[in-house]
Amino acid sequence: MPSSNAKITVVGAGLMGHGIAQVFALAGHGVTITDTVAQNLETTKARIAANLRDLGDDEGAAERVKPLADLAAAVREADYVVEAVSENLPLKQKLFAEIERHVRPDTILASNTSVIPITSIMQGLNKRERALGTHWWNPPFLVPLVEVIETQWTSPQAVAWTMQLHEAAGKQPAHVKKDVPGFIGNRLQHALWREAISLVEHGICDAETVDAVVKASFGRRLAVLGPIENADQVGTDLTLAIHETVLPAIDSRPGPSPYLQKLVGDGKLGFKSGEGFRKWTPEQQTVLRARVLQHLKGTRNQ
Ligand SMILES: NC(=O)c1ccc[n+]([C@@H]2O[C@H](COP(=O)([O-])OP(=O)(O)OC[C@H]3O[C@@H](n4cnc5c(N)ncnc54)[C@H](O)[C@@H]3O)[C@@H](O)[C@H]2O)c1
Repeated sequence: MPSSNAKITVVGAGLMGHGIAQVFALAGHGVTITDTVAQNLETTKARIAANLRDLGDDEGAAERVKPLADLAAAVREADYVVEAVSENLPLKQKLFAEIERHVRPDTILASNTSVIPITSIMQGLNKRERALGTHWWNPPFLVPLVEVIETQWTSPQAVAWTMQLHEAAGKQPAHVKKDVPGFIGNRLQHALWREAISLVEHGICDAETVDAVVKASFGRRLAVLGPIENADQVGTDLTLAIHETVLPAIDSRPGPSPYLQKLVGDGKLGFKSGEGFRKWTPEQQTVLRARVLQHLKGTRNQ
C-alpha cells in the first residue's frame, strides 16, 4: 500500500484532530474528518484555513479536507484511520470496534492517545496487527515529533508504512518499540516535572525560579542537544560520578506529589482557575501562549 496519496480519515475534530488533518492535507492527501459534535465538524475547515493563513502555508489545502458526520461512511474508503477523540478508554475501545466493522482488512488504525496504553485500546480488535499508536504533540502542525507506538501484535509492515507516511508529511516519526505508559516523550517530560514539583514542595526554590532555571540553562540547549548526546559530550565517567551524588537525592516517589494533590484538592487548577503553582491573570495566560506559539513558529524550518 503506498503512503503517498493515501486516503486518510481523522476521527475527532478537536484541538489535535483538526491539526492532524491539516498536516496530512498540506502534504497532499485527501482527508476525511468526522466528529459527533456537529459544530466541531462544521468549523473544521475554517479552523484549518485560519491556521494555514497564519503560517503562510497554502490555504487551498483546507479544500482537501472533507468533513463527514457519518462514521461508517467516513472510514469506509480509508487506507489509514487516526483517532483523536476524548481521552477515555471505553470510548476509544468502542469506537475502534465500530471502525473495524467498516474498514478494509488492511486499513491501518492508529490512536493519538496521550497516555492510555495502545494495547488496552486495541485488545478487542479482530486484526490487531494493523493497530498502533501515533502520539502527536500540540500543535500538530508546529511540533515535529510523532511517536509511532508498536504493540506486541503490530506487524512490522504497519509500523514501517506509518513511519513513512508521517515522514513524507514532514513530521519526525520516532519508533516506540514497546507499548509502555507515557511512551518516550511524556516519560522524559514527566520525570522532569516530578523533580520540578518536588523542588517547590521542599522549599528549595519557588515555582517561578524552577521555570527560570530550566529556561535559562539546559532548556536553551535541549532543542539541539539531547540528554544522551550531552552525557557522551561530558563523558560517561563524569555522568556516572554526577549520578552517584545526585540520583539518591532526586525525588523517586512512585506516585503523584502530595503538593500537587493538594493544589488540585484546593481547586488551584492552573490557567483554568487562575491559579495553580502560580497565579495567572487572563493577560498573563495570553502572553505565555503567544510566546510559545511564536517560538515554535520560529523553529519550524530548523
Ligand atoms: N491536547 C493535547 O495537547 C494532546 C497532545 C497529544 C495527544 N492528545 C490526545 O489526543 C486526543 C484528542 O485530544 P484533544 O486535545 O484534541 O481533545 P478535544 O476535546 O479538543 O477533541 C476531542 C474531539 O473528539 C470528539 N469526539 C468525542 N467523542 C467522539 C466520537 N465518539 N466520535 C467522533 N468524535 C468524538 C469531540 O467532539 C471533540 O471534537 C486525546 O486522546 C488526547 O489525550 C492531546
